[in-house]
Amino acid sequence: MESGLRSNLTSYGDPEFALFLRKAFIKGAGYSDDALDRPVIGIVDTESGFNPCHGNVPQLIEAIERGVMLSGGLPISFPTISVHESFAYPTSMFLRNLMAMDTEEMLRALPLDAVVLIGGCDKTVPAQLMGAASAGKPVIQLVTGSMLTGSHRGRTVGACTDCRAFWGKFRADEIDADEIAEVNGRLVGSVGTCSVAGTASTMAAVSEALGIALPGSATPPAVTADRMRVAEATGKRAVGIAAENLTIDKILTPAAFTNAFRILLAMGGSTNALVHLAAIAGRFGFPLDLDAFDAMGLDTPVLVDLKPSGEHYMEDLHRAGGVQRLMLELRDQLDPTPLTVTGRTLGEELDDAPEPFPQDVIRPRDNPIHSGGSIAVLHGNLAPAGAIIKQSAATPALLEHRGRAVVFEDAADMAERIDRDDLDVEASDVLVLRNIGPVGFPGMPEAGYIPIPRKLARAGVKDIVRISDGRMSGTAAGTIVLHASPEAAVGGPLALARTGDMITLSVSARSLTLEVDDDELERRAADVAPRPRPERGYARLYVDEVTQAEEGCDFRFLQAVDTSVSVPLRA
Ligand code: FES
Ligand code: MG
Repeated sequence: MESGLRSNLTSYGDPEFALFLRKAFIKGAGYSDDALDRPVIGIVDTESGFNPCHGNVPQLIEAIERGVMLSGGLPISFPTISVHESFAYPTSMFLRNLMAMDTEEMLRALPLDAVVLIGGCDKTVPAQLMGAASAGKPVIQLVTGSMLTGSHRGRTVGACTDCRAFWGKFRADEIDADEIAEVNGRLVGSVGTCSVAGTASTMAAVSEALGIALPGSATPPAVTADRMRVAEATGKRAVGIAAENLTIDKILTPAAFTNAFRILLAMGGSTNALVHLAAIAGRFGFPLDLDAFDAMGLDTPVLVDLKPSGEHYMEDLHRAGGVQRLMLELRDQLDPTPLTVTGRTLGEELDDAPEPFPQDVIRPRDNPIHSGGSIAVLHGNLAPAGAIIKQSAATPALLEHRGRAVVFEDAADMAERIDRDDLDVEASDVLVLRNIGPVGFPGMPEAGYIPIPRKLARAGVKDIVRISDGRMSGTAAGTIVLHASPEAAVGGPLALARTGDMITLSVSARSLTLEVDDDELERRAADVAPRPRPERGYARLYVDEVTQAEEGCDFRFLQAVDTSVSVPLRA
C-alpha cells in the first residue's frame, strides 16, 4: 500500500505526474522534500468560533504536531464541521450524521497514514468515530477535555446540571432576575466540555474504554498541562499506529463495545451515549441488543459520584484517577483482551495503570451511588421496540407509578400550554410529549426533559413522570422516560395516547403500559393524520433515511449490513 503523500493519488494513468502536481501545490505552503517524504498524520481541526467546547483546539493541534514530529511524522491539520449543542438549530443531533459523513469522506479523500480526531462537545466524538469506522483508517481519538467549574456565592457550579437547577429555581420564583443573571456568568468556568456526566464526558470515558483514545486521556480538563501532554502523546502514538497499520476495526470490536457499555453504566452516564454507541457499532454491522444492555445494567453499580446522579465534577474525577481508576474497580467485569490504540491490550494497560489511592469520587463496588441499572430498558404497548429511563437520576418514589396522561401533540403545543394557569395537570399525572423523535422533529431534540408545568413548580413540585419519543441531556435529572420506539411520527403507539388515559410505569417490571385496549387503539390509529415532511435538502434526506433510537439514529445507507454479532455481548 502506498503511504504518505503517495497515497490516494488520482492518477488517470500517470501516477508520477499526479504526485508531481500534488507536491508542487503543497510546496506552495513552504514544505521541503524532507518534510514531505514522511508518514502523513492528519489532524481533524474542529475549532469554531461557535464552539467554545473546542476553544482549546489550536493549542491541542500545536501539541499534537509536536508529538508527531518527535516521532518523525508530518502533521497536517484540516477542518471538518464542528457542532456545539447550543449553536446548532434545530438540534445538534440533526447535524451529527452530516459531520460523520464529512469526517468519513475527508478521511477517505486525503493522503493520510493515520488521523488524530479532535472532538469534545456532545455530538462530535460520536460523529468522528462513526465516520472513521466507515473510512477504515488508523485513527486515534483525542477529546478537548472538560471546562473548569465556576463558583456562585460560595457554591461550586458547573454546566449544565447547575444551569438547569438554577433555572428551575428561577421558574419557581425562588431566585430573582438579578441572581439568575449573575449565575449566567459563573456556570462555565473556561473553554472545554460540560463538567458533569453529560454526553461529552460520557463519550470521552467511553472512547478510553473502547481503547480508541490513550489510557488516561479522557479526564484532564481542557485548560491544563495534563491535557496538553495527552495531546503530545496522542500525536506521538499516531505515527506508531500508521506504521503498524492499526486500523479502527482492529480496536472497535464487539468485546471493546461491551466494555464501553459497562463504563457508560458504571458512570451513570448520558442516555445519549447509548444512541451514539449503537450508531458507531452499526457502522461495523453490530446491532444494539437492548435487552442485553438492560441485563448488563443489573450487575453494574453506578460507581462514579458525578452530577447529575451524584455530586462531583469532571475535574474531581480526573484528580481521583480518571477512567483507568474506574476500570480497575470494575476489572473483573471487563474483557481484558481488546487491543487498544497503544498496540497493547486493555488488560496490559490496566496492569500498568497508576496505583490506586484513597479518594471519594469513584466508589468501591460495595458502596455504590446506585446499586444497578442506571439506565433501564422498558417495553410495553407504548414502546414496542423499547424505551429507556435513567433511573439513577430519577425520583425513587416515582419509579412505580400509575397516573393520568396529559398529552402534548408536539414541542410547539407543549411550549404553548405548559405554563398556562388553566392547564389541567396535577403532580400525580404523567406528561406525554410526542413527535419529538428522529423523524418527528428531525434530530430527536433533547426536549424529553419536559419542564415542570409552572403552576406545579410554584407549588413546590420537583419531579413528575414524563414520557416522550425524544432525548434528554445527560446533564438533566428526573423521572423521565425517553426514546419511546417506534416514535409517533412513524406510526408508533405514542401517537395514540389521549389526555385522560391511564398509564402505568413499572421500572422494576421494566414495563410501560397505556391502559387502553387494542381495539380502541386500532380505532384511534385510523384518525392519526400524517405529519408534514421537509420538501428538500438535508432535512429531506434526514427524515427519509434516519433510523430509530435503538439503531443509533444513523442513516440507513451508512450502516453496515448486520452481522450475526450484536452488542453488548451477552454474559
Ligand atoms: Fe459542549 Fe456541553 S455544550 S459539551
Ligand atoms: Mg483553526
